[in-house]
Amino acid sequence: MEDRLYIFDTTLRDGEQVPGCQLNTVEKIQVAKQLELLGVDVIEAGFPISSPGDFNSVIEISKAVTWPTICALTRAVEKDIDTAVEALRYAKHKRIHTGIGTSDYHIKYKFNSTHDEIIQRAVAAVKYAKKFVEDIEFYAEDAGRTDNEFLARVVEAVIKAGATVVNIPDTTGYCLPEEYGNKIRYLKEHVDGIDKAIISTHCHNDLGMATANTISGVINGARQVEVTVNGIGERAGNTSLEEIAMIIKCHKSLAVSTNINTTKIYPASRLVSSLMNMPVQPNKAIVGRNAFAHSSGIHQDGVLKNTQTYEIMDPKDVGIDENSIVLTARSGRAALKHRLQVLGIDIDGERLDKVYDAFLRLADQKKEITDDDVLMLAGADRSAGHSVKLDYLQVTSGLGVRPVASLGLNIAGELFEAAATGNGPVDAAIKALKQIIRRQMTLREFTIQAISKGSDDVGKVHMQVEYNNQIYYGFGANTDIIAASVEAYIDCINKFHH
Ligand code: KIV
Ligand code: ZN
Repeated sequence: MEDRLYIFDTTLRDGEQVPGCQLNTVEKIQVAKQLELLGVDVIEAGFPISSPGDFNSVIEISKAVTWPTICALTRAVEKDIDTAVEALRYAKHKRIHTGIGTSDYHIKYKFNSTHDEIIQRAVAAVKYAKKFVEDIEFYAEDAGRTDNEFLARVVEAVIKAGATVVNIPDTTGYCLPEEYGNKIRYLKEHVDGIDKAIISTHCHNDLGMATANTISGVINGARQVEVTVNGIGERAGNTSLEEIAMIIKCHKSLAVSTNINTTKIYPASRLVSSLMNMPVQPNKAIVGRNAFAHSSGIHQDGVLKNTQTYEIMDPKDVGIDENSIVLTARSGRAALKHRLQVLGIDIDGERLDKVYDAFLRLADQKKEITDDDVLMLAGADRSAGHSVKLDYLQVTSGLGVRPVASLGLNIAGELFEAAATGNGPVDAAIKALKQIIRRQMTLREFTIQAISKGSDDVGKVHMQVEYNNQIYYGFGANTDIIAASVEAYIDCINKFHH
């Protein structure tokens, strides 16, 4: 008999802490609905006290989603808990996730406190939260570097106080898989009342061990795993949902099962990548562009004879369908709407009209419109509130000529123009841009990526620009990569130019 393993998705909380990748409430709802389709058990929707945006997102996600439990994060502080309770008021199933640092680093340097006082604060927070919500998860921050004996005391005390789930985060991604697994087993064996609560893993990927640590936690008794789509998150990210779901599906010997509909994995991955403007590395397990691509002759020959020679998973099981319908200039509005729905985006009316117009313009430039193009188009109206907009761009470049760019910027309704030369067309265009926006900006990162294939493809550009000691992220997408680069730079500028 297989045990149920609960999937706790924190894409919208821990995942969303990636600098420059914040989503607005409408985008968060799209992700939450896709997570519901995927079958996650718990959606951590935000940290309500942290900002009005987070507070509002928890409210709206609670209204939009029916089946999963909606969870809100707090510190072990009464006003955080009060705010979370208020934000969760529309949730059909709700959970408060409260906690405190338990490692000596946190106790000494963050709280200037003592072990006993930390236990008192943990217990008080759980008891307080329990007055409002039945389902309480407690996190022992930096549990990965917390002494097991003390961790067991904390866990025992919070279960007694009413915690239904105990989360053991490896906050810094430090643990080795065996060490993390042993920690979970230690708690199973040494905490009185441990069977009254579910043990949860929460692993960060700083040393590339998040998935291995999570699986080691499951082998040793954890029955909830905290994950993000594409493994996104601060620094090196969190454990990736798709890796865990497919490991559980492929390895029956683990004797646990999840509620994940794995065929929804790929659409969820594309949606999150597109909305957050975070490219997925090509060799990323399960969802990377090359994850199922066999290029060596020996592999191709084997796969053609029998896919199982070199493939342990069927790409269709994760929702990759090479034969999925490709849209063209002849596709109607209904076909576009349907494709968007499959990809987790439900839009109608004026917004659909806008995306459809952009779709027709793109279909004029390239023969086949892929899912990635569609997602890019659906996110295209993010420049609506920008005060700086590109009015026109003209570039001359080639071999044996000095690249020249002239461009016009519409800044709050007024047109500004400039021209410049550079060592390439992008350099020339950015120099022209800087003549208009006279600020000390430095380009720190610049990546260009073709969305799928073909010389008529849309190029996506990601940029990081430093201004006033802060890094700003920008994104642009266009069949003209010079235009995409300028759009990305302007996207960065709009983050600080008001
Ligand atoms: O990594 C961590 O410790 C966390 C907690 C707030 C759960 O994200
Ligand atoms: Zn975390």
